[in-house]
Amino acid sequence: MTTTKTVLITGASGGFGKTFTKVFLQAGYHVIATIRQENKKQDVLFGLSEQERRNLTLMFLDVSHDQSVAQFQTALRAYNRIDVLINNAGFAVAGFAEELTIEEYKLQFETNFFGVIRVTNAVLPLMRKQGFGRIINISSISGLVGFPGLSPYVSSKYALEGYSESLRLEVKDFGIDVVLLEPGSFQTNIWTSGTHLSENAGGDASPYKSMFTSINNRMIADREKYGDPIEVGVLALIIAESQRAPSLRYTVGKGVNFMLTLKRLIPWKIWERLVLKQLQKP
Ligand SMILES: NC(=O)c1ccc[n+]([C@@H]2O[C@H](COP(=O)([O-])OP(=O)(O)OC[C@H]3O[C@@H](n4cnc5c(N)ncnc54)[C@H](OP(=O)(O)O)[C@@H]3O)[C@@H](O)[C@H]2O)c1
Repeated sequence: MTTTKTVLITGASGGFGKTFTKVFLQAGYHVIATIRQENKKQDVLFGLSEQERRNLTLMFLDVSHDQSVAQFQTALRAYNRIDVLINNAGFAVAGFAEELTIEEYKLQFETNFFGVIRVTNAVLPLMRKQGFGRIINISSISGLVGFPGLSPYVSSKYALEGYSESLRLEVKDFGIDVVLLEPGSFQTNIWTSGTHLSENAGGDASPYKSMFTSINNRMIADREKYGDPIEVGVLALIIAESQRAPSLRYTVGKGVNFMLTLKRLIPWKIWERLVLKQLQKP
């Protein structure tokens, strides 16, 4: 077995995935970074030194397709060591529950939930054989708090939380730690090209038009305040490198811990009044 640590990162073409790639390369890891489109190769390579490029293996993987994951698993046989798996690939389906189709919920779950299971199952045999490994599942504050207009995304992340809690207990005795990393809002592409908006959202005929406008205005006003993904990248490295067994959950981002403490402490009725009031603010 090689002595160089290997991390496998899904969804490395931009956002957190690209940041994880850079951070782990700088820390001396061999990085297997996966993308799903040939034309995104340059995006991953951009800004990497020659030495970093040598430690990088780019592979194709669409986590939402059984066949793509099966091919990827075959290609993985060339590697005899994976220390860390970061299940990062994801996107957001937005819209109002009444106006969304079941197909749109399925679309969301194929990547954010089933995608994680597919890739994890492809990697677990090797991790069990080697007797160690860390699986970092990129969840979200949306895995702990519901938001209007985002129920497919929120549901997929809540499902990921339940899956990860259970899996953690199943694989602990094999020396494998499962971790949930739960970021607040960060400046990546998920809020633009990474969002699938339901057809009806915001339409004139929609009963949710005014709520859509409020949410949209709120997001536009807040976007500049979103965090730098490097914060999440560094935290992932700390989790990967920690000598002690990592905790189940790591939250990161402005106001996230305050929000979670508040949600835990105050009655639900007051909580929902606060959330809805926030939407009304300019
Ligand atoms: N940004 C935030 O504020 C935030 C907060 C909490 C959690 N998160 C989570 O962080 C993770 C990364 O998102 P991001 O914010 O970095 O967004 P991003 O910049 O849009 O990056 C998402 C990445 O996932 C890839 N991807 C999407 N669907 C895929 C699929 N079916 N198979 C393989 N790759 C796929 C995208 O590839 P393409 O380039 O090919 O589309 C891209 O590389 C997601 O799980 C997201 O839910 C983000």
